[in-house]
Amino acid sequence: DPSQPRASKQRFIAGLSQCLFDFVVQLLPTVEELAVKEDVRKLLERLIRTIEPNSRLLSFGSTANGFSLRNSDMDLCCLIDSEERLSATDLVTMLSDLLERETKFHVKPLPHARIPIVKLSLDPSPALPLGIACDIGFENRLALENTRLLYCYAMIDPTRVRTLVLFLKVWCKRRKINSPYKGTLSSYGYVLLVIYFLVHVKNPPVLPNLQQMPPLRPISHGDIHIAEYNTWFFDDIELLRLRWRSANTDSIGQLLMDFFKYFSRDFSYNTGVASIRAGLLKKESKGWQNDLDPARYKDARERERNRFCIEDPFETDFNVARCVTRDGLYAIRGEFMRATRMLSTRPERASYAIAQLCE
Ligand code: CTP
Ligand code: MG
Repeated sequence: DPSQPRASKQRFIAGLSQCLFDFVVQLLPTVEELAVKEDVRKLLERLIRTIEPNSRLLSFGSTANGFSLRNSDMDLCCLIDSEERLSATDLVTMLSDLLERETKFHVKPLPHARIPIVKLSLDPSPALPLGIACDIGFENRLALENTRLLYCYAMIDPTRVRTLVLFLKVWCKRRKINSPYKGTLSSYGYVLLVIYFLVHVKNPPVLPNLQQMPPLRPISHGDIHIAEYNTWFFDDIELLRLRWRSANTDSIGQLLMDFFKYFSRDFSYNTGVASIRAGLLKKESKGWQNDLDPARYKDARERERNRFCIEDPFETDFNVARCVTRDGLYAIRGEFMRATRMLSTRPERASYAIAQLCE
């Protein structure tokens, strides 16, 4: 019966989709964890206000973008609504002293980092069995906006988008290809790859391009620019959910297999830039080539910077994958290929395939 292989493929993909969903659900943060984190944020905000009365402490990153896993760290950003304010360096030092005195946090100030931050951690407790890790930065308004953009993408099609992103986050951590410090890609980079794939590679697309949709009302330059960067995007998700429906009905399992296949062999790593704002761009058009005459680069690290190119959605002259080295990219592509291979053999049990993928 020639329809036999097709039926068995469909059965495998349906099983895989369900298993991915179940796998991710059990890794979501608990209600208690979210409550403790919110309490921590409020406590820290109260303390910072004793130094800067007009400040707000806002969550960004995974705790605020809809892609949070159990025990993920907390990214906090302090905004100060006044003209006269302390420098980030002074704030980091003063806040660290205060937190050392007043709280049980372990405190590590990094006042002279490129972006000054305070690193905090809290020992495990019953509500937070693995403790808590938290970074506090200052005035990082672009990060707050890109967090809101990712959140909107997560909300358009929560089941498919969140399951895919969360699975990839677990997978890349377990496969050890999620360390910008060691030459691989940040979580933020992987999230952008998934959104790029769903907006620009899949046809018909699973997600609309929120940065290219016509605005509902005229917008003024001042409202949408942070520094020279245009941060506008269509953010009325309620309305979008009423008016926009994807013609793409691929299941989660199908999308995951296609994602791995695309980044194993179709994406043009040598010449291409993945941009969620504008689709596939050329490295050349951004001046991000890495195959130029070595003499043009002052040092070899500059040349290493553009092996893998992912454009930041707002800071468009920033390559989110700039930390990925030659070896790092080799490892990442190797993992995409391994995943493609494992899924194409269609193991009998999908749950086994998922466990094996993340081994
Ligand atoms: N960010 C950024 N530019 C980068 C890296 C990160 O603007 N090159 C900001 C983004 O707002 C991102 C946040 O920092 O959402 C946190 O980045 P990251 O820790 O990589 O992502 P998370 O979603 O928080 O993942 P994890 O759960 O692994 O911490
Ligand atoms: Mg984070």
